[in-house]
Amino acid sequence: MSYRTRIAGTGSYLPEKVLTNFDIEKLVETTDAWIKERTGIERRHICADDEATTDLALRAANKALESAGITFDQLDMIIFCTVTGDHLMPSSACILQSKLGCKGIPAFDLQAACSGFIYGLSVGDNFIRSGQYKNILLVGAEVIHRYVDYKDRDTCILFGDGAGAVILGRAQPDDHQVVCSTHLGAEGSLADLFFLQAGGSKTPITHELLDRRENFMKMKGREIFKNAVRTMAGACEQAMAFNQLTVEDIDWLIPHQANYRIMEAVAHFFDFPKEKVISIVHEMGNTSAATIPVALDWAFRDGRIKRGQTLLLTAFGAGLTSGSAVVKF
Ligand code: UT7
Repeated sequence: MSYRTRIAGTGSYLPEKVLTNFDIEKLVETTDAWIKERTGIERRHICADDEATTDLALRAANKALESAGITFDQLDMIIFCTVTGDHLMPSSACILQSKLGCKGIPAFDLQAACSGFIYGLSVGDNFIRSGQYKNILLVGAEVIHRYVDYKDRDTCILFGDGAGAVILGRAQPDDHQVVCSTHLGAEGSLADLFFLQAGGSKTPITHELLDRRENFMKMKGREIFKNAVRTMAGACEQAMAFNQLTVEDIDWLIPHQANYRIMEAVAHFFDFPKEKVISIVHEMGNTSAATIPVALDWAFRDGRIKRGQTLLLTAFGAGLTSGSAVVKF
């Protein structure tokens, strides 16, 4: 017997504190106008000193549970996509499991940077298709601002904190709400385009690395931009061909939210209308693994995305990782 997966509920949370472009003008040599024109970003949300990634994730997860109409004790598994977990060890998934009050269910972190949510969707979808699990909590959450160098104008304008979550459930046999496909990719030979040096087993944190500010992310922005456009556009074409869909069949494109110009260029690449691209990058900047589930939740709650519509999701991030998915929502 084979089963299908549906997105049964969505939730998201952005921290209260806001860092506007005008705040960033005071930190580095940049302007609100430049940031808006080159990225579409106007503000990002930054968590409080006493908040960490699982605090954001917990709020998003509770909203997703409520939206799916199930309670924490009905969950069979937690997949937590993040590059900025509370600790290197234990996993944030285990911490979230305990905060939710679940007992015993498997829980693990998944590290695919900004493509984390699509990777997690693929993993969760396969667990449900196999019949092993019925209800999976899939979270993308980041407190990325703690790895941002607020002296580096190439990166500090881009990133914010946030969490998004979905409940993956088992679809009924005649259900029109299904995850139709997921496609994943990676290109490790280009890993040095987007890097965080200090803190891993190869280069543990030392005073010297801190002096060189290697505890912050470094990115070759222009290269990443070009790769992001090409790769996400290719991933979208792959997903549409696999499902035998044309541009007209897709109700909404939800790309990873890193820069509005990237989203626009991806859409342009395969003649997809800009009006059908979901973007909330102006409000939150790049929240890495959280961007797609947050954008999905916002657009569902504000009435743009409706049940039964066909969604095309695509992501790209450090690794370099990438992926796409088609969801009949
Ligand atoms: O999740 C995936 C990870 N990240 C991304 O997807 C981000 C990908 N990259 C980008 O979004 C863009 O490349 C950036 C927003 C980072 C930069 O925009 P750009 O249009 O690619 O600018 P650029 O790097 O080509 O720089 C153009 C000019 C340069 O000046 P010159 O050399 O032309 O005189 C930069 O020094 O803009 C300058 N510049 C800035 N000026 C004001 C670079 N950053 C800034 C800044 N404010 N923050």
